[in-house]
Amino acid sequence: MNVRGKHFRTIWVKKKDSSTVQIIDQRPLPHKFVIENLKTVKQAARAIKDMHVRGAGLIGATAGYGMYLAAITAPKNDFDNFVAQSADFLIKTRPTATNLKWAVDRQLTAMKNAWSIKEKIRIAFETAKEIADEDALYCKLIGENGVKIIEYLSKKKNGAPVNILTHCNAGWLAFVDYGSATALIYEAKKRGIKVHVWVDETRPRNQGARLTAWELLQEGIPHTVIADNVGGHLMQHGMVDIVIVGTDRTTYTGDVANKIGTYLKALAAKDNDIPFYVALPSSTFDWEMTDGVKEIPIEQRGNKEVKYAQGFHDGKIKQVRLTPKASRAANFAFDVTPRKLITGLITERGICNANEEGVLRLYPEKRK
Ligand code: MRU
Repeated sequence: MNVRGKHFRTIWVKKKDSSTVQIIDQRPLPHKFVIENLKTVKQAARAIKDMHVRGAGLIGATAGYGMYLAAITAPKNDFDNFVAQSADFLIKTRPTATNLKWAVDRQLTAMKNAWSIKEKIRIAFETAKEIADEDALYCKLIGENGVKIIEYLSKKKNGAPVNILTHCNAGWLAFVDYGSATALIYEAKKRGIKVHVWVDETRPRNQGARLTAWELLQEGIPHTVIADNVGGHLMQHGMVDIVIVGTDRTTYTGDVANKIGTYLKALAAKDNDIPFYVALPSSTFDWEMTDGVKEIPIEQRGNKEVKYAQGFHDGKIKQVRLTPKASRAANFAFDVTPRKLITGLITERGICNANEEGVLRLYPEKRK
């Protein structure tokens, strides 16, 4: 996707220096565009934990490259041990996005059968690249599959702009390119379909207000940022045609974990008969868990994210406190939307019902 007209992915290997992985540091966005170098697995882990990178797909791609950095920096006399410890270390950085463990496991499996360190490093590099390329391709396909829904709504409205509500950032910043929920929007624009996006600000870290708004601006998509609690009101007044969100983990039975607040949007959509779709690449499916509400681990982050807000003032990025100093705050980062509230899942293989039968029809190789 484009930043000031120049194409970027969110993660790549530095030109002429294969020992350095580069990322866009998302913390100062939209105020500053900063590229960060990662040279060690510890730096990759910190980038995931402290949210220099974030979003399920990009967390997975960064973990893939993190494993590559582990391989090239591992001591020769303790290679396998170092790589195994690095895998554990990476997996523990964030608990909810399933892409993280998926990517680390994919690297461990790929490296397992190589007979020399040199070969393991080559495989780790190829696998990291494969994970990133696949993520970008799958997101593109999600866009091509899902755009039919927007096309249909547009025809129903005789070409008037389709009003899409989205939560958090399920855009290209959350993946390697295109995004999941936004892929449909970008594809719609390419096809000349008029859209307008309601962007939930997404407290406490404001991924909607800071990141989704910035992305949509770069891509020239009409959008309006709204406070988190506005969606229900807009739905009651016919101002939302469809809700499209991303997900950090989706059980193969159709329950969806996504950024905190998603569940409330799904309830409001149900009450107002508005289609509620979730877009995801297959790397986000959890093929073991059956009950998302009971089983998906929900990350609880530091209370500072709730008590303080970040903004731009006098040319500087600043943090200001919103609450009384002594008040306690809790910071649940995700919630689970049960399958009964979801109209459909949009994947790289097509669109399906949010239930076991629908998902396994698209992924028959996962039938047990
Ligand atoms: O905590 P974050 O910013 O990593 O949140 C994850 C997300 O990006 C959202 O939940 C998003 O909607 C899912 S799409 C990858």
